[in-house]
Order: sequence, then C-alpha cells, then structure tokens
Amino acid sequence: MKEALGWMEWLRGWLNILYEIFFQRILACHLKNPLPLPPLGDLTCIVTGSTSGIGLEIAKQLAESGAHVVMACRRTQAGQELIHKWQSEWSGMGPPLNVEVMELDLLSLDSVRRFAAAWNARSGPLHVLINNAGIFSIGAPQAFSVDGHEEHMQVNHLAPALLTVLLLPSLIRGSPSRIVNVNSIMHQVGFVDPDDMNVVSGKRKFSSLIGYSSSKLAQVMFNSILNKKIPSEAGISVTCVSPGTVQTNVARTLSSTIQAAYHLIPYFLFTPQEGARSTLFTATDPQVPEYCSVLKADDWPVCAYISVDCRPTNASEEAHNLETSKRVYEKTMELVGLPPDVVEKLLEGEEVLTEEIERDHSH
Ligand SMILES: NC(=O)c1ccc[n+]([C@@H]2O[C@H](COP(=O)([O-])OP(=O)(O)OC[C@H]3O[C@@H](n4cnc5c(N)ncnc54)[C@H](OP(=O)(O)O)[C@@H]3O)[C@@H](O)[C@H]2O)c1
Repeated sequence: MKEALGWMEWLRGWLNILYEIFFQRILACHLKNPLPLPPLGDLTCIVTGSTSGIGLEIAKQLAESGAHVVMACRRTQAGQELIHKWQSEWSGMGPPLNVEVMELDLLSLDSVRRFAAAWNARSGPLHVLINNAGIFSIGAPQAFSVDGHEEHMQVNHLAPALLTVLLLPSLIRGSPSRIVNVNSIMHQVGFVDPDDMNVVSGKRKFSSLIGYSSSKLAQVMFNSILNKKIPSEAGISVTCVSPGTVQTNVARTLSSTIQAAYHLIPYFLFTPQEGARSTLFTATDPQVPEYCSVLKADDWPVCAYISVDCRPTNASEEAHNLETSKRVYEKTMELVGLPPDVVEKLLEGEEVLTEEIERDHSH
C-alpha cells in the first residue's frame, strides 16, 4: 500500500489516524452527548445497517426527534425487535415513533435493486439517505460476494453507490435532501486501482486493511464525482463523515486477545452515541448544504467531508486525485451494472426504472 501511495502520504495518513484516535475526545469536547437535534417531523430518512453500533444510535435518535426512519438491514427480525424495544421505552414521552424495517443485504446487488424498487414504488420523497452499514473483517482472508466482488469493496462502497443512484428519484422528490456516507479516517491510507478494485490482479497482496481502507477511499472518490454531477439547483448534498473510533461490533472478527486489548482503551474510544454525532450533525444541521454547494467549484475535486468534531475537514491527498476519482466512478457504474450516464438521465427526470436496470443487468 505504501508503495502505491508513496511513503510520505502513507506516513501522513497513519499520523492522521493516530491523531484522530488519541485526540478525538479533545477534538469533540465542545459537543453535547447525545447531540441535540431539532424537531425532524418533516423528514424521511433511510439508515442502512441500523441493527448495531453507530447506525442503531442514528436511527433511534432520528426517530425520537420525530423523523420517519426506515431501518434498512439484513437481519429484519433484529430490526423489528429493536423497534419494539424503542417503542416501549418511548411510550408516554410523545406520539409513537415512526420507524419501520425494510430488508437490505449489501452483499447482494440484487437485494439492493429489490430494496430500491420497493422504496421507489411508494413514489414518496426521501430527505436523508445514510449509507452507514459497513464491515471491517480484520485478519480474515479475502472473500467475495455472490456478485463476485471483494466483500469490503461491495459492502462499504459498491452496494451503497448502487443504492444511492437508484434512490436518486426519491432524493430529487425530497429535495432539499442529503446523501450521508459514514466513511472513515482509514481512507487516508487507502489506495484504489480502478482496474483492480477487487484486488485480484496480484499486483498487491490483499489484507483486510487494504480491503477496508481502499473501499472507504473509493467511496470518497465516487461521491466526489457524484457531487460534481449534481447541480446546486437540484438541492441534494453529498457528504462523507468520519464517526471517530467507536466501540461497536465492527471489530467482531478480531481474535479475543486483540479484542481484549481494543476494549482496554475505552477512554479513547467513543460510545456509539458519541460516534453517531458527526453523522447526525451532517444529516440535520442547516449549514451543511451551504458548505456542500461551495465545494462544487470546478477547481475543488472532493465532496464535503465532516470530521469527528462536526467540522469540515479535508479528505486525503489521494482523494484529491480527480483523474483517478473519475475512473473509480466509471468503474463503479460498470461493476454495479449501471449505464455510465444514469445520473445525468435521472437528474433530467428521465424514468430509469429499477426493474429495467435489473433486467439489463441479468442479460
Ligand atoms: N466503529 C468504528 O470505530 C468506525 C470507525 C470508522 C468508521 N466506521 C464505520 O461506521 C459504520 C458503522 O459501523 P459500526 O462501527 O457501527 O459497526 P457495527 O456495529 O458492526 O455495525 C455495522 C452495521 O452494518 C450492518 N451490515 C454489515 N454487513 C451488512 C450487509 N451485508 N448488508 C446490510 N447491512 C450490513 C450490520 O448488520 P448486522 O447487525 O446484521 O451485522 C450492522 O447493522 C461502518 O461503515 C464503519 O466502517 C466505524
């Protein structure tokens, strides 16, 4: 990875990662916990991966603030049980929470297409899409989805990218609306070869660190180009967020010894409630769309990136590589079976039906 990135950039990336881990508490000390949210009764939000960790907190807090929340998760039973629990804890504190569960398994692009088709069939608005679900299979051998893609790349980038594009008609209806991608400071040591996004060519030896960090960088690059393609007048902001280093199930594949060490540093780790703040801020703060529209300038290659302290920050130097970002965008469209100009068509109001895409894809 360091060979591909360059020593200096690689070192700088690691220093930034360590800085965020060890200083996140100080950086975010001005933030209340939980983050106070305004009344959100007018918002419909989809939160992927809301059965655990950061996504669970995001969904719960959005719902408690009045939003209509769709928990997009692969374990629908777990989602239903959470809703039941939240409703009984909430009882007597206000009207019942407006939360529902819809099935979405990001390891299957078919599942993503089915989810989008079911959602778009309602013809309702979508105000906030939070691409939160993610995996970091630390130490696990390279594994591939049913679609043939490396699992980190599929769950953390390709499937959320497909979901985002397929939900554009609903986001257009919900405008002003927001796309919020729960990213990671780890993108700073990522490197994406657009011709080898699944790391199968043998040019680089796969490790879970390479899989994870590359998928997070690919997400920034893809969304940077998407941000450029969506004109300010469309009123859809595109953002990436760092939640910080958070004590969740994300490290579930760690060996028990390393897990014990990981949990020995609780002072430095955020709780999921603390880790949810930067995403909730990005999803609801009125300043965010303004900030995003400034970043559409021709000479600015990267989409908005919000840090653990809920302040705008800069994505990595590699993320500023506009040429690679364009190639990552094109390759992503190809890998998820979308036509290269689908975003332009959707923005022009052309009907690109999910079923059509599904049919084209299966040929
Ligand atoms: N924790 C950190 O320190 C940290 C740091 C930086 C970024 N992040 C990012 O934060 C996001 C949330 O992670 P977390 O820390 O909250 O981890 P987590 O506790 O493991 O939660 C991950 C969520 O994603 C869901 N998910 C995983 N694979 C899925 C799939 N194939 N289809 C649909 N949903 C799937 C999980 O569902 P199940 O419950 O069914 O497994 C779970 O709800 C991720 O994008 C992660 O990369 C986390």
